[in-house]
Amino acid sequence: MKTLTLNNGAEMPAFGLGTWKSAPGEVRAAVIEAVKLGYRHIDCAWIYGNEAEIGQALAELFAEGVVTRQDLWITSKLWNDRHAPQDVSGALRETLDKLGLESLDLYLIHWPIAFERGVTYPRTGAQMRSLQEVPLASTWEAMEALVDAGLCRSVGVSNFSVKKLAALLDVARIKPAVNQIELHPYLQQPQMLSFCQAHQIALTAYSPLGSKDRPARLVNADVPILLEDPVVAEVAAARGASSAQVLIAWALERGTSVIPKSVNPARLAQNLEAAALSLTPQDMARLDALDQHQRFIDGAFWVRPDGPYTLANLWDEDVI
Ligand code: A2P
Repeated sequence: MKTLTLNNGAEMPAFGLGTWKSAPGEVRAAVIEAVKLGYRHIDCAWIYGNEAEIGQALAELFAEGVVTRQDLWITSKLWNDRHAPQDVSGALRETLDKLGLESLDLYLIHWPIAFERGVTYPRTGAQMRSLQEVPLASTWEAMEALVDAGLCRSVGVSNFSVKKLAALLDVARIKPAVNQIELHPYLQQPQMLSFCQAHQIALTAYSPLGSKDRPARLVNADVPILLEDPVVAEVAAARGASSAQVLIAWALERGTSVIPKSVNPARLAQNLEAAALSLTPQDMARLDALDQHQRFIDGAFWVRPDGPYTLANLWDEDVI
């Protein structure tokens, strides 16, 4: 399986399994099926609420001898209410307990957004903390200490803009190895891609299939459905593949890692097979022409009238 060499020498499988929206009750079977099919990278997060069940799946896979811990790449993410430096290692330990692991391969700051401790989703801006109060640089120092303590091999970030990455690179002792962001043909982020290439930061593409099962509050009827895009469908027909496979192959062809989510055995298999699909330069050019800077996960859920975050200061860009 193709791997990306991170800036600390670690080899991350480029293709992985997304577990956001994989419901408890479904995710155990999905992880077991995926690993038996050949998946070697599982993307998790505390906030997905399913790490304990993923831990059960991993324990079963290890007990049956399907894989060893060393065969797998496991990522998880620090939730927004644990950015205070004194809270970071406890948050990782909680995740490790749930997953039943001694260490992670990669731990990410999930959002460049901070909340009061114990607040999962703030109702008011007063439950949020600004980045002046809880600077990302101090959270990062605590992330670096996790590497020193052997609790994770690599550390990185998620949903960071180029501006926030550049600021972090200025102060980091351990450079972020990965930025995990939304990436697909409708949201290609070319400046981010070139910045990360120049600075040896790997990109992982989340919601690569357009996340059509995202929560209803994030669905806007005017926004097109990526998996139903006619150009994607035409490229798929020409290659004897499905639209989902084309989207996965596009992400891999760009040199990013990609973590499509599925809990369905046939789709899990289909998605893994996409790693072997090659697209022609003409296919890539047709897909590249679909860019419309369309976020499906637009971050508007972090904006409160009385809170410190706006779409402008979250993404650090004019076009949202
Ligand atoms: P399911 O889990 O039932 O397979 P994303 O990775 O962009 O968040 O997208 C996940 C969504 O795409 C889920 O609704 C998932 O449903 C669906 N999905 C995953 N793989 C495929 C596929 N090969 N074809 C069609 N839909 C897929």
